[in-house]
Amino acid sequence: MQISLEGKVALVTGASKGIGKAIATTFATSGAKVMLNSRKQDALEAAKAEIDAACTAAGVSTDVEVFAANAGDLDAATACVDATMARFGAIDVLVNNAATNPYYGATLGVDPARYDKTFQVNLKAPLFWSQRVWEAGMRDRPGVIVNIASVGGMRTEFGLGVYNLTKAALIHLTRQLAHELGPTRVVGVAPGLVQTDFAAVLVENFGDRLAAQMPLKRLGEPQDIANLVTFLASDAASWITGDTYVIDGGAGVRGGG
Ligand SMILES: NC(=O)c1ccc[n+]([C@@H]2O[C@H](COP(=O)([O-])OP(=O)(O)OC[C@H]3O[C@@H](n4cnc5c(N)ncnc54)[C@H](OP(=O)(O)O)[C@@H]3O)[C@@H](O)[C@H]2O)c1
Repeated sequence: MQISLEGKVALVTGASKGIGKAIATTFATSGAKVMLNSRKQDALEAAKAEIDAACTAAGVSTDVEVFAANAGDLDAATACVDATMARFGAIDVLVNNAATNPYYGATLGVDPARYDKTFQVNLKAPLFWSQRVWEAGMRDRPGVIVNIASVGGMRTEFGLGVYNLTKAALIHLTRQLAHELGPTRVVGVAPGLVQTDFAAVLVENFGDRLAAQMPLKRLGEPQDIANLVTFLASDAASWITGDTYVIDGGAGVRGGG
């Protein structure tokens, strides 16, 4: 089995660092043309320079472009999708990766503003970015939508209740869109704890203890997630749709003991 994304165009939200940057890099070194999105132009330019260098080192000739936009701003989503179509002529793979978590605490303690912000970026954006990409051409040229969820969308834990609600809904949105959009494939990925800025506080406070309890004895790296996403986005996964795949170093199989 060979995993190649040659001839494909991908749009990755939240691609300037962490998991999104690793996905975009692996897509590009696998031959895809990639549009990187996040909010900050300078961070995007820096990520593009790194990805261009990785492609050169791998001897891969491809094309990477950037578009700064807040994923939760639906007009900006339209502009980013339009820019991708204008630059590359198609979108074969959309990765809904950008997410936010402005609130940590008891679920009933959340205020409406932070509740709305969490849902806007983590759930509303994946739905409407998918809609924009579908209408821009995926309806006629079937592709793949990958939603980055979380193991938190499958279980309960203190502090992350509101964030996890958005991820649980995203897992169901993945099923629902797979039902409605086939032969376009819609798949989800649910990472456990991965070492990024997003998870820095958790990694700092609980990382060593959690890693020691895991069957694979380490926390996740962005590249672990990128490898799975690249497989799912490729034609090697052409009979996979609707499900969300846990990737957590085995943390979830341990049970409570
Ligand atoms: N790290 C973990 O342990 C973990 C576990 C489970 C699931 N996840 C999920 O994995 C995904 C990536 O997380 P990460 O850990 O890689 O986070 P990260 O390192 O903080 O990176 C987040 C990326 O998203 C961008 N971003 C943030 N808000 C955005 C917005 N409103 N619009 C557009 N871009 C935005 C950031 O760039 P700008 O600041 O420039 O916008 C950055 O490029 C998220 O969906 C997260 O929920 C992470």
